[in-house]
Amino acid sequence: MRRVTSIAEVRAAVRAWRRADQRIVFVPTMGNLHEGHLSLIEAARAHGERFIASLFVNPMQFGPNEDFAHYPRTPERDERMLRDAGCDLMFMPDVAEMYPHGHEGATRVEVPGLSDILCGEFRPGHFQGVSTVVCKLLHIVEPDAAVFGEKDFQQLTVIRRMVSELCMPVSIIAAATVRDSDGLAMSSRNQYLTAAERQRAPALYQALVAAARRLAAGERDYADIEREGLRALEREGFRPDYFAVKRAEDLGPPAADSAHLVVLTAARLGRARLIDNVQVRL
Ligand code: PAF
Repeated sequence: MRRVTSIAEVRAAVRAWRRADQRIVFVPTMGNLHEGHLSLIEAARAHGERFIASLFVNPMQFGPNEDFAHYPRTPERDERMLRDAGCDLMFMPDVAEMYPHGHEGATRVEVPGLSDILCGEFRPGHFQGVSTVVCKLLHIVEPDAAVFGEKDFQQLTVIRRMVSELCMPVSIIAAATVRDSDGLAMSSRNQYLTAAERQRAPALYQALVAAARRLAAGERDYADIEREGLRALEREGFRPDYFAVKRAEDLGPPAADSAHLVVLTAARLGRARLIDNVQVRL
């Protein structure tokens, strides 16, 4: 596996693989890899012959009071993990390579509506930062397919919409959420939990599962399901931002004939803001 930092080096590698008729699959990350990321690489395997992962902590998607400066950065360990997972190229640009004129006044990509609800309401500008950097990375790599985790369900939905509306020639692959044995979804932000908070953290997934069971049993009082989810989280010491039942395809309000729903939540526990979701097929 090669580690490169410039856009020109990525393009040269991709050109050579294309000449050899190889399909290229891309896994964008912010580094600090865990098993969840390795499952993205695993999901990539079925879709091509060459694998590129990017490691870039994107300043544009962090709000002024968020954890950009403190976001865990572990590039040496990440490099070993990617090599062991069979990745061919690790792209680790610095901020100046991605935003040569600075990120604050940089050209932006916006997916309106979808970016303003749920997490977007609590993290203004976050999804604009995500769609901008993902659009740039997809232009740099020009992969046949790119893999995103279902753990960030709203992000996945925003990216799918952007790719479709900007006619970008890439397939978006969704990889299932990887969980610890007690149900907690893997996330770099779990590191912010104290030992006591870590014990309580699986309550987030349990609240989602309880809501999904009610939906699967035919209940349609979404407001009551959402209220109960919020109450369950508060009982466990979380400070929830939202707990919501949505249509899976576009995060709109569920309709009587919706066959695929998703229950999503974001909640703070101590220093950590955790997000998770569970899909329900009816
Ligand atoms: O999910 C992430 O790690 C990031 O939001 C992404 C997609 C790599 C864009 O910075």
